[in-house]
Amino acid sequence: MARGLLLAGMICLFPGDCGAGSDERRLLHFLFVERFYSPLERPVANESLPIRVNFTLDLQQIIDVDEKNQIIHTNIWLQMKWRAANLVWDPLEYGGITTIRVPAQKVWIPDILMYNSADEKFDATFHTKVVVSSDGSCLWVPPGMLKSTCDIDITWFPFDEQKCEMKFGSWSHDGRFLDLHEEDPAGGNTRTFYPNGEWQLIGVPVRRNVVAYECCPEVYIDLVYTIHIRRRTLYYGFNIIIPCLLISSMSLLLFLLPPDAGEKISLGVTILLSLMVFLLLVAETMPPTSDALPLIGIYFCCIMVMTSLSVLFTVVVLNFHYRGPETHTMPPWIKLGVNVVLAKVLRMSRPPLVKRRQSVCRYRLADVQASERTTHSLLPNLLESEEEYRHQQESNGLSRHTRGSSCTSDWIRPPPLVSRDTHVQQGDDTMLTECCGHVTRELTNVLHEVRKITARLRQDEEETEVKSEWRFAALVIDRLCLWICLAATLISTLAILCSAPHLIA
Ligand SMILES: *[C@@H]1O[C@H](CO)[C@@H](O)[C@H](O)[C@H]1NC(C)=O
Ligand SMILES: *[C@@H]1O[C@H](CO)[C@@H](O)[C@H](O)[C@H]1NC(C)=O
Repeated sequence: MARGLLLAGMICLFPGDCGAGSDERRLLHFLFVERFYSPLERPVANESLPIRVNFTLDLQQIIDVDEKNQIIHTNIWLQMKWRAANLVWDPLEYGGITTIRVPAQKVWIPDILMYNSADEKFDATFHTKVVVSSDGSCLWVPPGMLKSTCDIDITWFPFDEQKCEMKFGSWSHDGRFLDLHEEDPAGGNTRTFYPNGEWQLIGVPVRRNVVAYECCPEVYIDLVYTIHIRRRTLYYGFNIIIPCLLISSMSLLLFLLPPDAGEKISLGVTILLSLMVFLLLVAETMPPTSDALPLIGIYFCCIMVMTSLSVLFTVVVLNFHYRGPETHTMPPWIKLGVNVVLAKVLRMSRPPLVKRRQSVCRYRLADVQASERTTHSLLPNLLESEEEYRHQQESNGLSRHTRGSSCTSDWIRPPPLVSRDTHVQQGDDTMLTECCGHVTRELTNVLHEVRKITARLRQDEEETEVKSEWRFAALVIDRLCLWICLAATLISTLAILCSAPHLIA
């Protein structure tokens, strides 16, 4: 009663004028003073019946989805409709007024709250005026920037979909007093939804829960609106997936680069480093939770492990490439397993041995053979030429040119004989015997040296062969790594892309 009078005092600035004057003033006086209206009273005709409230939700905008704190920030207009049995009038009596707008504090309003609110004030709605119609139906649309908890699952990030539930219900009335119903069984209203750059709205379905406990007669009614959103992947595709793919495919180049270029390791480490730097950037965009490992995280992990292994195997390849007979003997299992079986599996083959020899030791071998031939033919030639020399000396003085192998005799003739030809005629015989002994000695020496050279060349050839075995093993391992790396990149990429629930949104 006292409250009603107070209200009347507020509505009628001049108490004497109340009951006369404008229609709206008369109407307000009729509703709130004459009929002893109290906002505390539940506006039902029969107290044993619940008041039906039709509720709906107008999603205006998704402001932010905070994956770390599991909070979704939305702009929502709630909409509640009920029929107040004590706010009915005849419009004809009051100048045709069919609706009035009353502050929410002045009339009974359902105390419907969002149960999973994460706001500091809990109820973040703005209490606007209630529109009351002449038949008693009330429409109240409190807008609000709502923060609500949301169970965000980032397993499929960045191809994820989130379902954020919002549970609405009367805080103090159970089902016996307030019957909460959804206005539209299809769900919330999204006609005025403002599109979000990061999230695509799939729908806002609604579910009505009526929970009854065995102990008590009352039922508890709530409405759960689910904001179903899907992350748009274009941003992540262009800024994360494609650069990562490029970097990971660069690690394939690592196995194509020949070891002699000397850049294999530096390329590998550079790729690893660039991947790390890139990961730092990506880590900032990823939701920092440990609840689940996001898909993209697994992908990065795969790529990083692969690149690290690439560097490791490159070291192995380089190690093999620079091995030689002086430090390593090739174990038979490498010779058979890598150079024969694995090479066959990878369809790699070396040019045949003869060709290789020809190409590698063409000049050396030719030299060796020539020198051998020379050595073998040297002694008979020499004796022959000695005879001829003697004859020539006797017949027509000194002519250095002889029949047959002129170069051989040229080469074996001691230089003093040639340069001092005037003295030769004087002591011919003594000089010749001296020369013969000297030549034999020299020849023995030469033979010895030539054998040494031949042996050395043979050794060189064998070393080259062993080295080429190692180099071929390195090549085979390099190729094996290339295939494995290619397969791993393709499989991991395809697996990630195929396991994603959706690709483009
Ligand atoms: C109120 O509703 C109950 C249950 O429907 C009914 O039994 C009772 O008669 C009603 N009272 C009045 C005054 O209409
Ligand atoms: C609530 O919705 C029901 C079913 O659509 C309807 O019959 C009833 O009149 C509505 N109540 C109000 C107050 O709008």
